[in-house]
Amino acid sequence: MMTNPAPYDLFDITDRCFFVSGGAGAIGSGLVASLLALGAKVVSFDRAEHKPAPDNPRLLRLVGDATVDADVAHAMASAAARFGMVHTLVNAAGINIRASVADMRMEDLQDVMNVNLYTAVLLSKAFAAIEGGEGRSIVNIASLAGSYGIAGAAAYSASKAAMISFTQVCAIEWAARGIRVNALAPSAIRTPMMEPRLSDPTQAAALLSRIPLGRIGEPADLVGPIVFLASKSSSWITGHILAVDGGRTATS
Ligand SMILES: NC(=O)c1ccc[n+]([C@@H]2O[C@H](COP(=O)([O-])OP(=O)(O)OC[C@H]3O[C@@H](n4cnc5c(N)ncnc54)[C@H](O)[C@@H]3O)[C@@H](O)[C@H]2O)c1
Repeated sequence: MMTNPAPYDLFDITDRCFFVSGGAGAIGSGLVASLLALGAKVVSFDRAEHKPAPDNPRLLRLVGDATVDADVAHAMASAAARFGMVHTLVNAAGINIRASVADMRMEDLQDVMNVNLYTAVLLSKAFAAIEGGEGRSIVNIASLAGSYGIAGAAAYSASKAAMISFTQVCAIEWAARGIRVNALAPSAIRTPMMEPRLSDPTQAAALLSRIPLGRIGEPADLVGPIVFLASKSSSWITGHILAVDGGRTATS
C-alpha cells in the first residue's frame, strides 16, 4: 500500500531531471526558468539558439532538430549522461502554419505534422528507452485546437488531435513500466505564435469573450499544471488531457 507523502513532498521536483523540447520558445523558455527556480535539473532542447542565460550547473542547453533521429538520440543520451536520469519529458516544440483547407499547401501540412507530432513520437520513444528511474512521466503540450475546430488552423488542429491520441496510447502502453503520460490542452497563451490572432482587435475580442476568467493565458499559467503532472501529486493520473483554458471549455 502507498504511504501518504508529506504534504510538502507532493509537488517537490528538487533534483528531478526535465527534458524540455522547444525550450528556447516562449512557453518553453519560461518553463525552463521556472523549473530551475523550483530546484529541478533541466535539459532545454531546441533547433533555435537559446537566449543568453546565467551559467547554472543544473541546466544543459542543446541545439538540434527534434525531427531528426540522430539529433534526438544524441540529445537524450547527453541528458542521461549529464544528469544520470531523465524523469520528465515535456514535448513543447511546435509550429502553426495557418491557411484555410482550400488554400493549405500539402508541404505545410507535412511540416506541421512533423514538428507537432513526429518530434513528440521520436522524443517519447527515446525517453522511454532509458531504463530505470522512479516516477517518470511525459507531459505533451497539445492544445484545445486538438478537440475543437478552428477555421484556418486545419493542419495545427489535426496535429494536436493526433498528439492527444498519441498521449492516450503511450499512457496505456507504458503504464506497466510506471511511465505516466498526460497532456495539457491550453487555450490562447500570449506568445508570438498567438500574435496574429491577438493583434487583430476583432479576433482578440472574440477570443476573450469566450474565456470566463477574463484574460488571455500567459506562459506562466502552464507551469503549475506541468509540475502537477510531473510530480507525486498526480501519481494515479495517466492518459489525461488537462484543459488549461481560463474556463473556455466550461462555456457553450
Ligand atoms: N501559444 C499558444 O497560444 C499555445 C496554445 C496551445 C498550445 N501551444 C503549444 O505550446 C508549444 C509552445 O508554443 P509557443 O507559443 O511557446 O511557441 P514558440 O514558437 O515560441 O516555441 C516553439 C519552439 O519549438 C521550437 N521548434 C520548432 N520545431 C522544432 C524542431 N524540429 N526541433 C526542435 N525545436 C523545434 C522552436 O524553435 C520554438 O523555440 C507548442 O507546441 C504550441 O503548439 C501554444
